[in-house]
Amino acid sequence: MAIIPEHKDYSLAPFSLEGQSAIVTGSGSGIGRATARLFASAGAKVVLGDIDIAAARVVVDEIADAGGAALAVECDISDEAQVKAMFAAALGEYGQVDVLASVAAYRKKHDTMRMSPEEWDIMQAVTARGTFLCMREAIRVMREAGVGGTIVNVSSVASIRPVVFNSMDYDAAKAGVNAMTLAAAAEFAEHGIRVNAVLPGGTNSAGAGKMGDTSVEQVSIHGPITQPGRVLVDRMAEPIEQARAILFLASPASSYITGQLLAVEGGVLLS
Ligand SMILES: NC(=O)c1ccc[n+]([C@@H]2O[C@H](COP(=O)([O-])OP(=O)(O)OC[C@H]3O[C@@H](n4cnc5c(N)ncnc54)[C@H](O)[C@@H]3O)[C@@H](O)[C@H]2O)c1
Repeated sequence: MAIIPEHKDYSLAPFSLEGQSAIVTGSGSGIGRATARLFASAGAKVVLGDIDIAAARVVVDEIADAGGAALAVECDISDEAQVKAMFAAALGEYGQVDVLASVAAYRKKHDTMRMSPEEWDIMQAVTARGTFLCMREAIRVMREAGVGGTIVNVSSVASIRPVVFNSMDYDAAKAGVNAMTLAAAAEFAEHGIRVNAVLPGGTNSAGAGKMGDTSVEQVSIHGPITQPGRVLVDRMAEPIEQARAILFLASPASSYITGQLLAVEGGVLLS
């Protein structure tokens, strides 16, 4: 099924999500929060899925205060039943799911040489399996509706180049997210479903703070990214800068883009 956009529309309308309904996971904090807020500003009705329901509710209130429509749903993305329930809640409230932004991930550094198999598994369960479960449920709902849709998975530059050490489990899970993005783009294009990923570089968020917290794990932050001058833009990203890329890939403005991995990283991969 090919969804052909209006080719002579020179307005900014294709950048809008007016009339669309979106699920954003991990939306209680950081990049997910910024994405949910931006989607609402772009006209979407937004379902905020997060394991931390209190945090998601705060963002729902922020969206409501700004005049938008949003619903918080408690969801651990690694749990299939909870993922299905989140989509059911979205369908119940808004009748459709046109967009999935899969942002949630497990954020903890593990010393490569001391990481237990269980620590490896929890990373894969949330970051890789959780992304898969959300993506598959979105595809199911979009196929049933028969009107296509867009999926944006949030990966990391660490999936294609190591940026800090002691993140091998995270890097591998995110490389899996990239592979899933390409596989789904290829497999479901015929249903009018576009699937892309944003690969953030270092971004100011509570999660990034956790990755830098050496007090509990005694895992120091070192590795390629810590070398001076690595980030050409010479600062960390703000969550909204990631959210703008996610909105572009989620919206009709990117109607001819699928199966792409867009690094939003201030030039770190070039340096
Ligand atoms: N911040 C960075 O520097 C950076 C860099 C590269 C990639 N990323 C990726 O961007 C995404 C967002 O990162 P962030 O820094 O904004 O994170 P964050 O920690 O600030 O927010 C993550 C949110 O996800 C939620 N969450 C955690 N586990 C969950 C689960 N199992 N189910 C549902 N929700 C869950 C948390 O409650 C939280 O609200 C992640 O996929 C992360 O890997 C971040």
